This record gives sequence, structure tokens and C-alpha cells, in this order.
Amino acid sequence: MVASDQGGMQAVPRHVAVIMDGNGRWAERRALPRAAGHRAGARAVRATIEHALRRGIAALTLFAFSSENWQRPAEEVGLLMQLLLEALDREVAELGANGVRLHFAGDRSRLAPLLVERMDEAARRTAGGRQLDLLVAVAYGGRWDIVQAARTLAAAVAAGRIDPAGVDETTFAASLATAGRPEPDLFIRTGGERRISNFLLWDLAYTELWFSDTLWPDFDERIFDAAISDFASRQRRFGRTAAQVGRS
Ligand code: FPP
Repeated sequence: MVASDQGGMQAVPRHVAVIMDGNGRWAERRALPRAAGHRAGARAVRATIEHALRRGIAALTLFAFSSENWQRPAEEVGLLMQLLLEALDREVAELGANGVRLHFAGDRSRLAPLLVERMDEAARRTAGGRQLDLLVAVAYGGRWDIVQAARTLAAAVAAGRIDPAGVDETTFAASLATAGRPEPDLFIRTGGERRISNFLLWDLAYTELWFSDTLWPDFDERIFDAAISDFASRQRRFGRTAAQVGRS
């Protein structure tokens, strides 16, 4: 709970998942190269993490690079990877000092070995963080995650480690790259599109969705707070009736 602008207390989502869309358009509107939009987007990432810490949000998941983003021009893919590497070099010490545990989800097979090494190092160095669990989705796709979980479980069945009847929602969720954290309470997508775009397909089953036309580099604490306030006004029923959950 956190104090609202109206003076009362409002529920804060435990886990917020974000699609950071609109970097390219932000740059194009300023007649700047797309790279400038991604750099501005990286600054908005920093501000978002700081605000999540201020609001006491326990987990934040950011979609930095999707399975489909490999189809972008090689130059832009290279820049996004470079930005990630630079952000790790620049921010890991401060993230650790602020109690942020940083880790990654995604298909590492096409990532540069140096980037994978830095990602592992960042995860190791921040493993003790207890204030905010920050998961960065890199080369990630919701379908990829479901398929890799299915493959893991199929291999365990084939090896006789588990019985097919033992595959249920709990064991499946535990095999996802996103395992070990609560499911997202609030999903935010900036940039005007109203779709999930292959993000967290399993995890978003009961997440509250919030969309903004704001382009990602312009996302700030005011807009983040607007999303949190809107979340607090939602009635979450998880399939039950309004009477069962105690609110009309
Ligand atoms: C979407 O904008 C954004 C991305 C594909 C990449 C997100 C990356 C960052 C915010 C920077 C680095 C990240 C970290 C974690 C340091 P878009 O290019 O699709 O924009 P458009 O739809 O306007 O073209």
C-alpha cells in the first residue's frame, strides 16, 4: 500500500511487466536517428527502476529485445545489444547497492558470448538484492518460453524423472524462464499499440493490462503513477464473482 494523491492508501502491484515501445517514433519525430530514441529509452529505463524502488514494487520485468527483434536491420540489432552491454557496465554496481536483483530471461543461443558473460556476472553480483527483482527479457518470446518449458518437461519424462501425470500448471510454470516470481499484476505497454506481442504469454493470464500512447522515452514517474492508480481501481476476480471477492 502507498499513499495516494487523494490522501488515502492504495494497493501497489507486486509485479509490473513493461513493453517499452516507441523509441523509434520518438526519434523520428525529432528528426533524429533511431539510435537516439533507444538511448533516450535506456534513460527512461533507469528512471522507471528508480520509481519502482520508491513505490515499493517487488518485481519488474522489462521487454528489452524480443525473439522477433532479430529481424530488424543488423545495425539496429547491434546497437540494442551495445546499449545493453553499456547499461550493464554502467549500472550494475548502483543496482546492487540499491538492493536490486538483476537477472535475464531469453534464448541466449544467438547472443554474443561477451554479452552472456556480462549478464551472468551482473546476475551473480546482484544476487543478494531484496528490494526489487528486475528481470530483463532479452531475445525473449512468450512462445519460445512455453516451448522450452515443454521440452524440459518432455526430457524429464523421457528420462523417467517425472511421470506424465505429474505435469501440471505448477510444474509447467516452474519450468519457464520466468519462474520463481509472482505472476505480473500489472502490464504496461507504451507507444500506442494494444497488443501483447509475444511477451509473457503464460504469465499474463490474469494480469491487468494498461496501455499508453506515450512513447517510451517520455515515460516518467507521473505516467507510471497513473498506471498504478488505475491498477488500484480494478476489481480482480480471478474467475470468481464480485460478491465472492467482497467488492461490488
Ligand atoms: C521499442 O521501440 C523498443 C525496443 C525494441 C528496445 C527497448 C530497448 C531500450 C529501451 C533500450 C535498452 C534497454 C535496456 C534494458 C538498457 P521501437 O524501436 O519498436 O519503437 P517504434 O515502434 O517507435 O519503432
